[in-house]
Amino acid sequence: MQEIQRLATLALAQVLNGRNLDHALTDARKQAKGRLTDHQRASMQDAAYGVLRYRSEIEGVLLQLYPKRHPLPPLDALLMVATYQLLHTRSAHHAVVSHAVETAAEMGSPSSKGFVNGVLRNLLRQKDGLLQQVHETPEGRFSHPGWWIEKVRLQYPERWESLLEAAQQHAPMTLRVNRRHNSRDQYQQRLSQAGMAAIPVGSDGLVLEQPVSVAQLPGFDQGDVSVQDASAQFAAELLALHPKQRVLDACAAPGGKTAHILERGNGLEVWALDQDAGRVRKMEATLSRLKVQAHCQVADASQPDGWWDGVPFDRILLDAPCSGSGVVRRHPDIKWLRRPEDIPALAETQTRLLDALWPLLRRGGRLIYATCSIFAEENRMQADAFLERHPDAKPLPIEDPLFEEGQILPDAMHDGFFYAIFRKV
Ligand SMILES: C[S@@+](CC[C@H](N)C(=O)[O-])C[C@H]1O[C@@H](n2cnc3c(N)ncnc32)[C@H](O)[C@@H]1O
Repeated sequence: MQEIQRLATLALAQVLNGRNLDHALTDARKQAKGRLTDHQRASMQDAAYGVLRYRSEIEGVLLQLYPKRHPLPPLDALLMVATYQLLHTRSAHHAVVSHAVETAAEMGSPSSKGFVNGVLRNLLRQKDGLLQQVHETPEGRFSHPGWWIEKVRLQYPERWESLLEAAQQHAPMTLRVNRRHNSRDQYQQRLSQAGMAAIPVGSDGLVLEQPVSVAQLPGFDQGDVSVQDASAQFAAELLALHPKQRVLDACAAPGGKTAHILERGNGLEVWALDQDAGRVRKMEATLSRLKVQAHCQVADASQPDGWWDGVPFDRILLDAPCSGSGVVRRHPDIKWLRRPEDIPALAETQTRLLDALWPLLRRGGRLIYATCSIFAEENRMQADAFLERHPDAKPLPIEDPLFEEGQILPDAMHDGFFYAIFRKV
């Protein structure tokens, strides 16, 4: 437990300084003393994710116990980790406290042992009152920044609370079965034979009852299955692909949707672009595991002069860079790393990409615009403004009852996503 607390604290301190959680966890793992077991890795990850999920609540509780930040910032992060473990896990209280005291000493602050011990013991004694007080404010109750809560409240006046609560939940592990290798039913049986229960979602998806490491998934290395949220699996379906079409996936890396397009299509010519070279390498590795091929390029999709050969595409997918406000339950760091001014800046980038790509679509073709956001500026407002600017674009309806005007709101089985289909007339 002590090593878990120490490593989770190192990762968390980085995120509190503006670093992305995945990168911070990778760095922290490198500082482990000896090899971590799977259980230790999972517990460390859970602690870092957990603090970010409940950050305002945890800070609100700690603020009542010691009103000023500790002069040694890692101690603040350590106390947040221990508070998460005391409030939201089944870890034995005495172990959490005694290990946090030792970790404080190890982090270069032996004189802080008494302080850490005192704060955590007071927390245990006064827990109910402290929590009650914190939960009186929306920030403390939902653990999101104030500006974010306000935006969700204004844009979803009837369900803002349930949306914010949904963002606090753990996301399920959802699989996408590669229909070129096996049917969904066949793969579900293979899982069941391996002792894993799963329920179908969408047309190619299975939600696992319990998450597992991908190494445990039958046929993962052979490309029989991938991990992908159920909402993300709509992209390939909404493209309504026909054999031999020329398809552009403009912001494609790390390649989840490109792979799905290739798994579903027949004889397609797929161009998969991304401006991030490292992510394009990941995409190439994914496509090779799945034994499918695309024309992958590192390129700026908003500058077609640099990469387009002038032959129009039948289908374009723009899975645009966005705030990620629909996937906070998977990436709880997002809500703390985003700033309010990021939203109009992202919307501008999305507009630029849409306008640059539209001329590349042939008449009668369709462009799918997608984000993993729930904010209207990136979604409905973006789509409406696009239709205003382009009279040759006609919106096509999405019949699935899960969608409300293109928006999928996060629920137990789905990330928050938005899709718009534009047909060129
Ligand atoms: C939402 S992610 C794409 C996820 C991907 N479609 C998938 O399903 O795995 C957005 C991607 O857009 C890329 N991107 C951002 N601006 C771009 C641009 N101007 N041209 C190409 N790619 C861009 C980012 O590097 C990022 O990989």
